[in-house]
Amino acid sequence: MSEAVFHQAVQRAVEENLTVMLTGQGESLIHPQFEEYISYIVQQNAEFALTTNAALLTPERSALLLESGIARITFSISDFGADYKKVYNLDFDNMRRNVDAYMSINNQRSESMRSEVWISIVEHDINRDKIPEMTAYWEALGVTGVYVFRQINRGGACQTNHYFLRSDARRAEAEALMASKGVSTLCNLAFVAPFIGWNGQYYICCSDYEKVEPLGNVFDYSVSDMDSIKKESIYRGNPACLKCNYDPVNVVREAMLEVDMGEAKRAKISNRLGVLKKQQDENPELYSVVDWRAEHTGERNLVVNVIAVGK
Ligand SMILES: C[S@@+](CC[C@H](N)C(=O)[O-])C[C@H]1O[C@@H](n2cnc3c(N)ncnc32)[C@H](O)[C@@H]1O
Repeated sequence: MSEAVFHQAVQRAVEENLTVMLTGQGESLIHPQFEEYISYIVQQNAEFALTTNAALLTPERSALLLESGIARITFSISDFGADYKKVYNLDFDNMRRNVDAYMSINNQRSESMRSEVWISIVEHDINRDKIPEMTAYWEALGVTGVYVFRQINRGGACQTNHYFLRSDARRAEAEALMASKGVSTLCNLAFVAPFIGWNGQYYICCSDYEKVEPLGNVFDYSVSDMDSIKKESIYRGNPACLKCNYDPVNVVREAMLEVDMGEAKRAKISNRLGVLKKQQDENPELYSVVDWRAEHTGERNLVVNVIAVGK
């Protein structure tokens, strides 16, 4: 990400009092101007946070981040030992030393000057059984908390065997059921975590891994300008959302298809609807209109996009 783009992205966050999150589709610590970029955030008095695998987090960088007032650091550590190497192709002991150094520098600071320290675990096939053990391990070390995330297929960029990817089946039924239960079809991620790529383009969210749909430039649009553009993109059938297992309609469709295949009980559908409803109730502003599509006219393009997914 060039300096010009980075500065503009920070300005966009500052103008709407948002937290700058250094994360997304890459590893911020690889950037050759990492230290300068942190100084720029400090000069702009912006709140900031970092998500990292910690491989390049030297104690000097930890000290700099803490001196710069980092609000929150999230370490992405979904595995242990040999599995860690297998999944990340990084050295577990090096990561542990770096995390330890960060926590120790953090703990030496007065309580009001400390950052939050979170561990992000993405549940996947290899680590599923070890999640309680890993959570307990990190909690015992005094982290602020451990998030366990469901694995997102990154707008279809990760190959998965989801049934919903194979056809457009159950879309109409899922949408009708959601409407009857007051569950919106609008995904929250695009709005709660706006995403700017290294090239200065906004994308629907960080799960448009293949950057299939640039939505506009950070020099031309503010973060809030993008809200209606993102809704329009989703309405038209954003290609990443159509293939995404986090998209609410696909979440419900997948449960329905699993029931059809005899792999899940019907309760799974209501469970998924319940989870979505709870999540949406936490964001009343975004979900004040459940039938958000009613705001739009224009032709929908869903079928064409879903057929493209099948190849
Ligand atoms: C993609 S990483 C990028 C930032 C940095 N390189 C890192 O490793 O933290 C950002 C966050 O997404 C999480 N993540 C990675 N793959 C994911 C997936 N398939 N589904 C959901 N979350 C994922 C990571 O655990 C991390 O917390």
